[in-house]
Amino acid sequence: MLIRFVLRLLPRSVAATATASFPVLSHATFTQACLKNTLMVVGLSLLASQVQAEQPSATVLAQVAVCQSCHQANGAGSAELAAPALAGQDADYLARQLVNFQQGWRGKDPRDQYGQQMLSIAASVQDVAAVAAYFKALPVPKPSGEVSGDLQKGRTIYVGNCGSCHGGNAQGNPAFAAPSLLGQQSSYLLRQLEHFKNGIRGVEKADKPGRQMAMMAKTLNSTEEMNQVIAYIQSLQ
Ligand code: HEC
Ligand code: HEC
Repeated sequence: MLIRFVLRLLPRSVAATATASFPVLSHATFTQACLKNTLMVVGLSLLASQVQAEQPSATVLAQVAVCQSCHQANGAGSAELAAPALAGQDADYLARQLVNFQQGWRGKDPRDQYGQQMLSIAASVQDVAAVAAYFKALPVPKPSGEVSGDLQKGRTIYVGNCGSCHGGNAQGNPAFAAPSLLGQQSSYLLRQLEHFKNGIRGVEKADKPGRQMAMMAKTLNSTEEMNQVIAYIQSLQ
């Protein structure tokens, strides 16, 4: 029920793909569609290899060097500095968060002491898309941080309330703007769930992805439940 409601916040085209039943195709149309898809996949992989071959410019590397002092050279982040992992994360998600910091949708709340650190840094990023693409291209790190929580209860919560957007393996789903939760620090995941639940993140009216997640975080009744679901997410990797 709640998920259906939350999905209504998505752009119409995405919601339609998620809920519409697929039309029955004749054999010929089906073969044609398959061929078209195959050609598209081949085309896209050629494009992807070209993009990968492109080296980041000196300007981008200079900007990234600033980030690395907290998020580390491999993008795995640092629990001591409360800087999350960025490596391997969806580039559109990373770019959106940088813009959210730039326009004060995230990190402005006085209770958000860590988010505040990002405000002036995000403002100084000139090429948000290129910086995001740089971190996306790095390998997903191992998750870190001890967390104790009942795995079975965590699984029930995850499958019932999280997997529909973040994916069965917490790999994320760009179509729903839902980030990957893999390779992250347990302490960071817990802090974000608390921030969403307590109106520190995901409160701006225009921040639809943030508001969706805020609604979902409110389904978690206690820190104990948050730790259970985090324990399950960390066990997937
Ligand atoms: C002074 C340390 C510091 C530096 C330097 C820094 N960050 Fe951060 N960053 C943080 C902290 C702390 C957070 C966590 C904020 C929170 O808890 O909400 C964060 C969060 C983020 C997030 C949100 C990640 C997510 O999963 O939502 C992104 C994206 C990000 N930083 C990108 C960058 C980029 C790009 C740079 C370089 C231009 C950079 N950061 C430089 C400390 C830093
Ligand atoms: C309706 C789709 C949806 C559901 C269901 C959902 N999420 Fe999310 N989640 C999102 C979106 C969208 C974002 C990104 C919000 C933003 O852009 O600020 C997000 C962000 C997050 C983040 C922050 C990640 C980061 O790097 O900062 C965490 C942690 C998270 N979700 C955990 C969960 C958990 C745990 C559940 C289940 C209780 C859940 N989500 C259910 C859509 C969803």
